[in-house]
Amino acid sequence: MIQADSLSRSYGERWAIRDVSFQAREGEILGFLGPNGAGKTTTMRILTGFLAPTSGRASVAGFDIVDNPMEAKRRLGYLPETPPLYDDFTTREYLSFVARLKRVDRRKIGDAVDRAMSMCGVEEVAGRLIRNLSRGYRQRVGLAHAIVHDPQVLILDEPTSAMDPRQIVEIRKVIRGLRGNHTIILSTHILPEATALCDRVIIINEGAIVAVDTYEQLAARLRSSEKTLVRTARAPADLAARVGRVPGVLHVAPGSGRGEWVVEAALGQDVREHVARAVVEAGAGLLELRPLAMSLEEVFLKLVTHEDDAAADGEREGARA
Ligand SMILES: Nc1ncnc2c1ncn2[C@@H]1O[C@H](COP(=O)(O)OP(=O)(O)OP(=O)(O)O)[C@@H](O)[C@H]1O
Ligand SMILES: [Mg+2]
Repeated sequence: MIQADSLSRSYGERWAIRDVSFQAREGEILGFLGPNGAGKTTTMRILTGFLAPTSGRASVAGFDIVDNPMEAKRRLGYLPETPPLYDDFTTREYLSFVARLKRVDRRKIGDAVDRAMSMCGVEEVAGRLIRNLSRGYRQRVGLAHAIVHDPQVLILDEPTSAMDPRQIVEIRKVIRGLRGNHTIILSTHILPEATALCDRVIIINEGAIVAVDTYEQLAARLRSSEKTLVRTARAPADLAARVGRVPGVLHVAPGSGRGEWVVEAALGQDVREHVARAVVEAGAGLLELRPLAMSLEEVFLKLVTHEDDAAADGEREGARA
């Protein structure tokens, strides 16, 4: 549905993005995750035809964005980082204007605008001038702008920025509701947002893709050991030593909570049964024993801080493709 092949863009001597390739499949939500200046906006502006790539190609719904921009743009909705809204229009006037520009059938414009306003929760400001809207509401009108012509593909640059927590929850619901019928790329540097919304995540850093994967697979690929959390009622002096002697266990350290221990074992080793026995035999009173997954935050930090190691390990998408 969206295809990017070796996209690069330079500003003078500097590369904003370099050799970025990926695809978004029909009906999926693809997250673009990266720190400030990573190249998320640059990539999105190229995909939407607002910025020409220095080299490489991109297509939307089978139409090349440079050779066939009209056809590509017709199938595309874009929420830019800062939505360029017309201040002197009311919300409804503005969205009707956009619908006309997007060539929505004249007789259907009223319905299309009502639908977009209802989906984005801006009905209550339908008659207000855009200049008087708060930032969160401007962002919502920007999202309504992106979906008013019911495009197949949506490209959303930080859709929840400037929103309060309640609005974030609502907008995520809107985006989730669009999944399936639409192919969506969204950027964020809010890591839980990527986990909450996206089927797959692309991690981009310093203009290059560091990883493309599902969150679960990313965590699995990055894991260097199996970690298990053990919680006990008591902590006899020899507990750590006893657990440490279990075959396969590499390391035992106190956890963050009371009576918690983090037991590390070699990758692929399931030591839970023997750890449980050791805890019981030590008379510590086993309360809980569960595998510890890496949070996306940890995955991300590991990816952006150990990019060179990752490349050496063949973790880079380019090396795997
Ligand atoms: N018009 C421009 N002229 C010069 N450099 C630019 C221009 N636009 C972007 N850049 C540079 O390109 C790089 C990527 O910027 P981009 O805006 O794509 O990052 P981003 O991932 O969207 O960051 P953020 O999370 O802050 O929005 C940055 O180093 C930025 O300074
Ligand atoms: Mg940006």
